[in-house]
Amino acid sequence: MPSKAVLSVFAIAGTVSAQVPPYQSPLLLQPGANASMCLRADNVDGSPVVLAVCTGGPDQLWTFTNDQVQIYGNKCLDVTNGVNADGTKVQVWDCEIDIAFDQQFVYTPFGDNHLAWNNSGRCLDLPNGNLSSGNQVQVWACNGAEDNNNQIWDTGYMYNNLPSKSEISQNGTNNCGNVSSQTSMCQTMWMNDADDFCLWGPPENGTIGDTEQEVVAWCTKSGYGTRTIPNGTLAGVHFVRTPNYVQVTGVGNFTNINVAMGDEGGELDPHGADSNGNPIGGLVFGNTFAPNLQYHEWTSFIGDTEFCMRACIGPDARGNCQHIYDEMGCFWNMPANYDAGIFESCLGDNDIPMGVYGTSTWFQGVSPTPSPQPAANSSSCTPFSSITSGPLKRDLGIDILGKRAASPAMTTPPS
Ligand SMILES: *[C@@H]1O[C@H](CO)[C@@H](O)[C@H](O)[C@H]1NC(C)=O
Ligand SMILES: *[C@@H]1O[C@H](CO)[C@@H](O)[C@H](O)[C@H]1NC(C)=O
Ligand SMILES: *[C@@H]1O[C@H](CO)[C@@H](O)[C@H](O)[C@H]1NC(C)=O
Ligand SMILES: *[C@@H]1O[C@H](CO)[C@@H](O)[C@H](O)[C@H]1NC(C)=O
Ligand SMILES: *[C@@H]1O[C@H](CO)[C@@H](O)[C@H](O)[C@H]1NC(C)=O
Ligand SMILES: *[C@@H]1O[C@H](CO)[C@@H](O)[C@H](O)[C@H]1NC(C)=O
Ligand SMILES: *[C@@H]1O[C@H](CO)[C@@H](O)[C@H](O)[C@H]1NC(C)=O
Ligand SMILES: *[C@@H]1O[C@H](CO)[C@@H](O)[C@H](O)[C@H]1NC(C)=O
Ligand SMILES: *[C@@H]1O[C@H](CO)[C@@H](O)[C@H](O)[C@H]1NC(C)=O
Repeated sequence: MPSKAVLSVFAIAGTVSAQVPPYQSPLLLQPGANASMCLRADNVDGSPVVLAVCTGGPDQLWTFTNDQVQIYGNKCLDVTNGVNADGTKVQVWDCEIDIAFDQQFVYTPFGDNHLAWNNSGRCLDLPNGNLSSGNQVQVWACNGAEDNNNQIWDTGYMYNNLPSKSEISQNGTNNCGNVSSQTSMCQTMWMNDADDFCLWGPPENGTIGDTEQEVVAWCTKSGYGTRTIPNGTLAGVHFVRTPNYVQVTGVGNFTNINVAMGDEGGELDPHGADSNGNPIGGLVFGNTFAPNLQYHEWTSFIGDTEFCMRACIGPDARGNCQHIYDEMGCFWNMPANYDAGIFESCLGDNDIPMGVYGTSTWFQGVSPTPSPQPAANSSSCTPFSSITSGPLKRDLGIDILGKRAASPAMTTPPS
């Protein structure tokens, strides 16, 4: 049945001849519901394109050109026999020079991350939302992102195979080495625990508003190749792990990480008005839900005296990490403990998604402004006496930053 979303796919395809993800190829293609899984295919004409646990191998590295999605340099995502019907399976085939209809895919990054089969009204789709290895993808009528998680394809990287720059117009780098320095331009950050997280801060003194495209990672641990948060900066830190996200909130003196004094700050997220995200090229990883998992959805605020950062997984990631309330600040977007003098790591429930009140959704600017959601309960808190900077103790393997692991963390072979 045609919907608004289908029409918008036509509109995009009609006005822009081709679209690619904002991130630099080669890329992993990961279902929105589980970033531990990747699309893969063999280097053989007719090989089915299926889900497998991410390894970052050549069978999972996709390169977007303006009109095709290539693998192995010369195979392309291909709709079997070009049959324009719901349920047609997708395979790889020799890339056609005069690109035939069956190989034309455009990526629609403006909020929905669909891979639209050009002008067919159909999108790359995960049959039955089945996230098991071996499930072969198909084409199906495009639905809006909210309607159909089976059509969200995030583009990502293995933590141990990061490009120098993930986005062309990026100021800093993602392949950061393992030597921290206070002049690092690393824009890869980690969210692991109360004593092992990073914040986005300006590379030089400035307001978040003025530097949002170029903020860099400042971490509590050295060893990520980032800057480190100077001792004495963090006055309170509350880390919580819920079923669907990790979150860290707190207070401190963030002029120490170059936030201009008196700056109320601003919001940072991986989308931005132009889909490049702020910072441009900023990537977020963590070990909470799977080893070295990339978080495709996250939202963050920082000002000179407080911060909050949430990184989400799974089918509800977009709602839990909603980034449209950019004028509402930490306390409204991420209700939680922000108390000074307490440093803790807790388990918790999910907050109700920001802006959602029963069956209605509030939009910024509409009067009256509703109260923030209640902070969800937390438990099993582990206290810390303070959070200072120190060396990373967790074993990241020899290859965390730069070299491909002989055996990367996610190595279950595809079935
Ligand atoms: C995501 O995929 C990984 C790898 O198959 C699996 O271990 C994990 O349980 C999956 N997570 C969810 C929420 O399905
Ligand atoms: C996709 O469709 C548009 C609009 O018809 C067309 O201009 C464009 O060339 C098509 N893309 C490819 C790769 O053929
Ligand atoms: C999910 O897909 C796998 C691989 O194709 C298949 O073996 C399994 O039966 C499917 N599960 C369901 C519930 O359809
Ligand atoms: C970031 O890049 C812009 C555009 O190239 C440049 O004007 C700016 O000085 C850069 N910022 C830093 C901190 O390097
Ligand atoms: C840092 O990286 C270098 C070069 O890749 C490697 O030789 C060294 O063992 C790494 N150090 C640590 C502490 O991981
Ligand atoms: C930092 O930047 C702010 C705003 O850009 C400016 O008002 C302030 O004077 C700067 N502070 C220092 C110490 O340079
Ligand atoms: C924050 O740190 C700066 C630089 O060390 C200092 O000048 C300022 O007084 C501190 N602000 C507060 C509120 O303590
Ligand atoms: C927290 O737990 C208490 C007791 O179980 C419950 O009454 C309360 O509603 C919970 N608060 C939230 C925000 O879920
Ligand atoms: C920060 O404090 C920790 C713990 O007190 C200490 O080990 C570390 O050397 C300090 N770092 C710096 C740069 O002073």
